[in-house]
Amino acid sequence: MSFTRRIFLSSAAALAAGPASARLAIDGGSPVRSKPLRSRLYGPLYYDQMEWGFLKEVWEARAPFRFWGMDRSVIPPKVATFEREFAGFMQSKYALGVTSGTAALQVAMAALEIGPGDEVIVPAWTWHSCFNAVVMAGALPICAEIDSSFNLDPADIERHITPRTKVLMAVHLQGNPANMDAVLRVARKHKLKVLEDVSQSVGASYKGKPLGSMGDIAIASLQVNKTISAGEGGAVYTNDPLLFERAIRFHDVGGIRAPHTDWLGETREEPFIGVNYRMNEFSGAVLLAQIRKLPRVVSDIRGVAKRVYEGIADLKHLELRGLPDPAGELGSAVFIGFPGKTQRDKFMEAMRAENVPVGPPGGSVLLPTQPHILAKRATHPNWPTWNSPEGRAVSYGAESCPKTVAILDRFAGVSLDPKFTEADTRDIVAAMRKVHPVVMEG
Ligand SMILES: Cc1ncc(COP(=O)(O)O)c(C=O)c1O
Repeated sequence: MSFTRRIFLSSAAALAAGPASARLAIDGGSPVRSKPLRSRLYGPLYYDQMEWGFLKEVWEARAPFRFWGMDRSVIPPKVATFEREFAGFMQSKYALGVTSGTAALQVAMAALEIGPGDEVIVPAWTWHSCFNAVVMAGALPICAEIDSSFNLDPADIERHITPRTKVLMAVHLQGNPANMDAVLRVARKHKLKVLEDVSQSVGASYKGKPLGSMGDIAIASLQVNKTISAGEGGAVYTNDPLLFERAIRFHDVGGIRAPHTDWLGETREEPFIGVNYRMNEFSGAVLLAQIRKLPRVVSDIRGVAKRVYEGIADLKHLELRGLPDPAGELGSAVFIGFPGKTQRDKFMEAMRAENVPVGPPGGSVLLPTQPHILAKRATHPNWPTWNSPEGRAVSYGAESCPKTVAILDRFAGVSLDPKFTEADTRDIVAAMRKVHPVVMEG
């Protein structure tokens, strides 16, 4: 029997059961909405005179470089103030603005002194940059499974730990904190450093603590798909003055200057080789306005998510994605689970027909199945990562992460927009209430 036919029969049965179960749009019924609902870019949605005013100040002062302007004795204030306020929001002692989240990850690797011979445990499902930063440092990335939060599965970490393991990378994906109590427990037991990647969850918290404030060092992307943005940008933050100094030096060709020298009070490190990932004052201007709006963005998006969660809470057979701290979640997406891929795909298809599109987990890649990772291709054939006995022995592929594959196959979610109206969230709830029972019981 075809999917449509089966859905039709079951939706007809559901129709008989009560008014909430109208005929599905995929079967020819009226869709919940006439036009598809789509979430937009959070940061730019909130742009107003504040960003404009700060940008104008940079332009009028003709001071786009963060370390000096026309008057070389005056330090322009935008990036420096953004760093202070970002650190304050994150309840961390120090923060450094950089050019992207990818750059921030490389800076964090250098700060942690990760290099050839070291291993870093990363989740099998995350963005390319997490894996690439480890390779760019010359170290070996080892992929661990995710759990139903879509984040590093603490129960799968220990089997990957070797005497060479130095860092656990806890990535908080799609607005959802990782299970930090359990991750930190494993890290302490094995004396490993924890790098938190907060890129997809800026503004979220775990048990009252801002994400990124629990590990040794954290990074955030401020690229346009993230909670706040200047188009591109990134930040590295930590409570550790040595890690901060190493981060500063790496991002600025080995050097350190004011205002960071003043912030640190004293230096503890000699110069070493670095890059140029410095943030400019135009980006700093936009991000300074954006960090001041972050509490409002977070409160708006959580309000939207709350209406959706409340509207579907009583659905029979409802399985939410794993939420290690529901109160701390950003609320940028609501994901629900199905017994398997068949039902999940049916749900997605039927929701799309209702003009309330849902998608599988997104914004990341299944790292072990990427062709260049399977082929172990770095920037040079003699790159240290896969030229060690351990690097030669490591094997990737979907078979290395079956749990991750199964989770990614059976969840679907709706991406939320902080400015969705009450009517928008009523439509999301109505479509889910219409389709979910048919898929689960059909
Ligand atoms: C989890 C995660 N880490 C790092 C990055 C890299 O950030 P950027 O695009 O700013 O380089 C991203 C970007 O999407 C991300 O999702």
